[in-house]
Amino acid sequence: MTRFAYVNGLYCPHSEAMVHVEDRGYQFADGVYEVIALHRGRFVDEQPHLERLDRSLFELRIGWPMAPAVLKLVMRELVRRNGLRDGSIYIQVTRGVAPRDHAFPKTRVEPGLVMTTRRAKSIPAAALRDGVAVVTIPDIRWGRCDIKSVGLLPNVLGKQAALEAGAYEAWQVNAQGVVTEGTSTNAWIVTREGRVVTHPPGPQILNGVTRLTVLRLAAESQIAVEERPFTLAELKAAREAFLTSTSSHVLPVTRVDGAPVGDGKPGRIARRLRELYLAELERA
Ligand SMILES: Cc1ncc(COP(=O)(O)O)c(C=O)c1O
Repeated sequence: MTRFAYVNGLYCPHSEAMVHVEDRGYQFADGVYEVIALHRGRFVDEQPHLERLDRSLFELRIGWPMAPAVLKLVMRELVRRNGLRDGSIYIQVTRGVAPRDHAFPKTRVEPGLVMTTRRAKSIPAAALRDGVAVVTIPDIRWGRCDIKSVGLLPNVLGKQAALEAGAYEAWQVNAQGVVTEGTSTNAWIVTREGRVVTHPPGPQILNGVTRLTVLRLAAESQIAVEERPFTLAELKAAREAFLTSTSSHVLPVTRVDGAPVGDGKPGRIARRLRELYLAELERA
């Protein structure tokens, strides 16, 4: 079965999907994206993802490539053509095609819109059973990590560093010693006193949609969460740690820089939040 992509108004075979060499996304990373999970044929948290897309576009002064209602129709049509029920859709919007010049194009250009889908990759059983390892790396990113920009070079280098260290993810630590977030995940700890802590929203992190859902689920289950910066020293002394993202859901972190977190086993609160998140996926 042919796999389709959507590129600037056309559904085309994925292998033939191409953009212009002067697309500003390609030349300047002048664009934004979203990844939305599809669970049993239904988009997960579609609205918050599209609201975040709207916010990212607004912050960069890029227009919507089409009305949001039409974009939703295109998302569904691409999923239908690809016969997808469990997986994700990638949506990328760039400032469009224009002669290469750093400043915005002087004349009006249509934003570029690309969508692709992929089948769900299951999380390895060992990761669920034993938790995953993270390494820590310096946070070398720009000052607007709240914008879901396609400029991901520090994240690319960080994930590669994790891979080469045999870890699942790299958590970034800023100049103040604060753990901001992972390269594609939000970072959480449970302190020795049993307090759940995660970095507050702001320019230093992407406000993950999964993060927001987990905050709500925690509140509904009377699990108190402190949204405040936490340091690498606090991470190393934590009883538990876990990460959240669209594709990883809630995943216990049991090793940091080669040392066990707490007793080195997935923690009680991380496991509970994962169960709550999976139940929410089935319910929504
Ligand atoms: C830097 C960063 N932080 C956090 C996340 C998690 O966000 P979400 O839960 O919306 O997938 C992502 C996801 O891609 C990310 O790239």
